[in-house]
Amino acid sequence: MSLRIAIVADIHHGAPSHTKRGDAALGLMAAFADWVRDTGPDMVLDLGDRISDIDEATDLQLEQEVAEAFRAVPAPVHHICGNHDRDHLSVAQNEEILGQALQNELLDCGDWQIALWRADAKICRDPDPLGFDLPETDLLWLSRTIQAAAKPTLVVSHVPVSGHDQTGNYYFQRNPQFSRYPQSDRARAALAQARVPVVCLAGHVHWNTVTTLDGIPHLTQQSLTESFTTQGAPAGAWGLLTLTETAHWQVFGKDPFEARVTPQTGRWTPPLMPF
Ligand SMILES: [Fe+2]
Repeated sequence: MSLRIAIVADIHHGAPSHTKRGDAALGLMAAFADWVRDTGPDMVLDLGDRISDIDEATDLQLEQEVAEAFRAVPAPVHHICGNHDRDHLSVAQNEEILGQALQNELLDCGDWQIALWRADAKICRDPDPLGFDLPETDLLWLSRTIQAAAKPTLVVSHVPVSGHDQTGNYYFQRNPQFSRYPQSDRARAALAQARVPVVCLAGHVHWNTVTTLDGIPHLTQQSLTESFTTQGAPAGAWGLLTLTETAHWQVFGKDPFEARVTPQTGRWTPPLMPF
């Protein structure tokens, strides 16, 4: 039995910012809702960064407008907060707007389970160091969930765990430290404890990628409104992930992508010392 998951990432509703076409977000969300109605997935995952932040009052309004757009999506929706949802707003404020608890959560979905790893994505601006800081409680939740996993597991987060190379990325080539948690090697070590197939899915980096580490495919999906890969036009990207023994991932829109990967039960052999 397959599990079909629709995915939308980095909606960034609000004023256009750099290459984010936030002005197109609500129109594209209406199109996404129509597509979900036609496609009939089991659920929808929102990978976070629903808005481009300005200040608390503006962000509350923007988040409410995105929540309203999700009300037209005819499927159960699970949200994750991104860094822009956390710049001026608390998790509790996001929970109230979305009408949903936003703690770490394990969903049992038949042959698969989904770990909604809602690790805090707030970028600390003061004091130093500037950047993400993965709370130890979130790391421990991931580690214990993976240690206990008895069936194939999809791990979903806003910030990618892979630490993949950012060469060519508009935002992160020259700012790679903002593409990942400084503790992401520990998150990967936690994943390496899995005795079951694992697939990781994240947003944040605004491009479609597959990175395989330790037999675990890590996917990142393009933003709904990003334009740096699409010559200024919003990508209009949304995805469909079909999980069976394999993971078949399709991304639609102006930046299309498709991959079929087979997550492995066994982990890889530890790499050799320098020659
Ligand atoms: Fe984003």
